[in-house]
Amino acid sequence: MKIAVVGTGYVGLVTGTCFAETGNEVICVDIDAAKVEKMRQGIVPIYEPDLDVLFERNRRQGRLRFTTELAEAVAHADIIFLALPTPPGDDGAADLRYILGVAADLSRLITRYTVVVDKSTVPVGTAELVHAALAEHLDESLFSVVSNPEFLREGVAVDDFMKPDRVVIGVEDPKAEAVMQRLYEPFVRSGNPIIAMDLRSAEMTKYAANSYLATRISFMNEIANLCEKVGADVDAVRKGMGSDTRIGKRFLFPGVGYGGSCFPKDVQALAHTAGQFGYNFRILEAVMGVNTDQRFRVADKIEAYYGSDLAGKTVALWGLAFKPNTDDIREAPALYTIDRLLAAGAHVRTFDPEAMENVRAIYGDAISYHEDQYEALEGADCLAIVTEWSVFRTPTFERMKEHLKSPVVFDGRNLYDLRRMVEAGFYYDSIGRQTVS
Ligand code: UDX
Repeated sequence: MKIAVVGTGYVGLVTGTCFAETGNEVICVDIDAAKVEKMRQGIVPIYEPDLDVLFERNRRQGRLRFTTELAEAVAHADIIFLALPTPPGDDGAADLRYILGVAADLSRLITRYTVVVDKSTVPVGTAELVHAALAEHLDESLFSVVSNPEFLREGVAVDDFMKPDRVVIGVEDPKAEAVMQRLYEPFVRSGNPIIAMDLRSAEMTKYAANSYLATRISFMNEIANLCEKVGADVDAVRKGMGSDTRIGKRFLFPGVGYGGSCFPKDVQALAHTAGQFGYNFRILEAVMGVNTDQRFRVADKIEAYYGSDLAGKTVALWGLAFKPNTDDIREAPALYTIDRLLAAGAHVRTFDPEAMENVRAIYGDAISYHEDQYEALEGADCLAIVTEWSVFRTPTFERMKEHLKSPVVFDGRNLYDLRRMVEAGFYYDSIGRQTVS
C-alpha cells in the first residue's frame, strides 16, 4: 500500500518505518529540511532501540523515503497518517494548530480517494474538525477520516508497533475500515484484536488508557509514601497486590512520578476536556497533584537529610532520561530534582547512558556531565538515582564507596535490596521502604 506519514517525531518515524517493514511504500514528510536531508543520508534523528536497523533496511531498499513537500507525499499516498505535535496550551488543552493546518493544506492537494488518519493523540471531536478542514475544498467522496491512536512506549516502540496488544481504529466508513484492516493485518497475526469503533470512542480510548496508567502510578506512589510512614515495604505490597489477576503485576512501580511526552500532557488534556463538558473529573485532579509532589520526592529526601547544610554539598545523579532506554528528557523527574538541588545551592554531577547531551542543552555548565557512572560519584556527598537504567542495577558497591565522600544513597527507583545495602555499609533511603544504614 502507498502511505504518507506527516511529521517525523517519535511516533511518525516509528510508524513510517514499521509500515515500510511490512512491504508498504512509505514517504515521510517533515518541514524541517535539515532533518529530512539527514534522514535521506541514513541518519536516524532519534534514539529508539531497533529503529536504526529497520530504518536502514527499508531506506536502502527504497520503501522509506523522505521529503519536505507535502504535495509529493499526497500524490504518492492512498493513506496519509498525521503524526504531528499536539502540545498543551496554557490552559491544558491540546493545541491543534499543526494538525488542522496540515488538514487545510490536504484539502487543496488531494485529488483522489484518500484515507486521512489521525495518529497523534488528539482531544475527542478532533476527527470531526479534521473532516471539516478537509471538506473545505474537497468533495466528501474523496476522503475518509480515521482515528488510529498509538500506544507506543518509548524504548520499546518498534516492538510495540510490530506486535501491538491491540489496534484501535475509529472509523465510520466501511471503505476506510477495510483499508485499515488490510494495513494492520500483518501486525496482529498472533490473534490480537483490531478493534473498530466510532471516531469519538477511539479518541477517548487513548486518553482513558493513558490516564488510567497514570492513575495506577500516582496511586502506587501514595501507597509507597504511606508505607514509609506505617513501616511497611511497598515492594512486598506491590507483589501481594499485583498477583491478583484483576490487578495485574505490571505498571505498579512507585518512583519519582511519571514523566515523558504522553502521561503529563494526556492527563491534563483529559481533565481539560472534562471541564469543557461541565464534568469535574476529580480523580484526574488528584493524579496530577500527587505527581507534581512525587517528582520532588528524591530532592525532598535529600533536603530533609542535609537541612540547611545542603548548600555547597555535591550530589551525584544517576539517570536523567524520563525512563530507561531513551534519550528523552521531556517532563523528566531528573530535571525537577536538579532544579531543586541547584536552588538549594548544591553542586550536581550527572551520568546518563543516553540523555546527557539533551540535558546539557538546558543546564550548560551549571551541572557537570560524566562519561562513567563511577566518575560521576567522585567527591560527591551522596548519590541520587532517578532513572532505572539496567546498568545501575548491579554496580560494584565497593567501587561506589571508593568514589563517594560518604556512602549515602537516595534511590528513587528501588533498585537495591535493603539487606544488601546494610551489608555493603550504605545509608540507603528508597521509595516506600524503610531507610536503612
Ligand atoms: C506511555 C504509554 O505507555 C504509551 O502507551 C503511550 O502511547 C505513550 O505514553 P511512555 O511515555 O513511552 O509511554 O512511557 P511508559 O513506559 O509508559 O512510562 C511513563 C512514565 O511512567 C515514566 O515516567 C515511568 O517512569 C513511569 N512509570 C511507569 C512509573 O513510575 N511506574 C510504573 O510502574 C510504570
